[in-house]
Amino acid sequence: MTPFDPTTLPTPCYVLDEAILEQNLGVLDSVQKRTGCKIIMALKGFAMFAAFPLIRQHLCGVAASSLHEARLGYEEFGKEVHVFAAAFREQEFAELLSYASHLVFNSFSQWSRFRPLLAGPQTRVSCGIRVNPEHSEVKVTLYDPCAPFSRLGVTRENFQANQLDGITGLHFHTLCELNADSLARTLPVFEEKFGQVIERMHWVNFGGGHHITRSDYDVDLLCKLITDFRKRHPVEVYLEPGEAVVLNAGFLVASVLDITHNRMDMAILDASAAAHTPDVLEMPYRPEIEGAGKSGEYPHTYRLGGLTCLAGDVFGDYSFPEPLRIGSKLIFTDMAHYTMVKNNTFNGVGLPSITIRDARGQIRIVRQFGYEDYRNRLS
Ligand SMILES: Cc1ncc(COP(=O)(O)O)c(C=O)c1O
Repeated sequence: MTPFDPTTLPTPCYVLDEAILEQNLGVLDSVQKRTGCKIIMALKGFAMFAAFPLIRQHLCGVAASSLHEARLGYEEFGKEVHVFAAAFREQEFAELLSYASHLVFNSFSQWSRFRPLLAGPQTRVSCGIRVNPEHSEVKVTLYDPCAPFSRLGVTRENFQANQLDGITGLHFHTLCELNADSLARTLPVFEEKFGQVIERMHWVNFGGGHHITRSDYDVDLLCKLITDFRKRHPVEVYLEPGEAVVLNAGFLVASVLDITHNRMDMAILDASAAAHTPDVLEMPYRPEIEGAGKSGEYPHTYRLGGLTCLAGDVFGDYSFPEPLRIGSKLIFTDMAHYTMVKNNTFNGVGLPSITIRDARGQIRIVRQFGYEDYRNRLS
């Protein structure tokens, strides 16, 4: 069923549905209330700050991966700002300290390098080390932080327990779009390898990749895992999901610009997989479209392509009950996470407008992009 009428919307545009976002936030909040854990939102997955006022009513802060994300979190979200990066840059570190409440180091070499800079008035920052339990749950290597030779997190073999003075937290991030059973298998490995130092910590961050708001996610198991962990170790537990916060809460509306034929029917859209939904090509996966089926499922099948020159700028093959026409509008679903934060202007294509659908069903345009946005990042 069409969630809203796209006919009057400027395309391409992202639509964030506040009612669905609120449902997701309710689920996340229930986990916090049942377990006493704290949930922060990973900005790398979703950083649409027009939605922050709603999100901060439920979540405790943000997880940032860079100076800019830390600043956005500090200025626009305004609660805890946890920062992790594969490496911090010396010239940015002082400014980073002015935004961060928690800093997670990816190596003991970074920790010992930056430690002297933490001695001043900025000691309010709580420091942690990211560890790598070397337990893979993610099947796609590109997204597996525990793949062989991973640069993310300190392995048990390289862990320097004698360098923990000043470290009050441990962080691991090993999951991606996974259910609580994956966490259930990960925690014993993490505890077996790093258990002896947890007692010296104030907090442990279980990272992101928990698909908590997915309909088949085992929330009860997650709550039990966190509650039992906190019984064994009296520490604060953090989760930092990105995707789960806005799962199914966003749409990308696109218009058909042309219909062509090369041994099959094709439709060229005013959106681009390469520019506007890069994970479609990177992951890769086939996004869903409202009212469309798989190739051949309905009478009219098309290959849907983007408007850039990239031969592979293709969303996939879809069928429709009625033929598409120039001007037909298509609604791609689950398009809030890893889209706005990753999109680009390859070929000079415009960025999709950003809109919000409020609880009454009214859609308002929050931002539109133009030539300046393309030009200003080039020279
Ligand atoms: C360190 C860290 N935390 C949190 C996340 C958020 O993950 P997700 O959006 O899958 O929940 C990621 C994603 O890559 C990550 O690398």
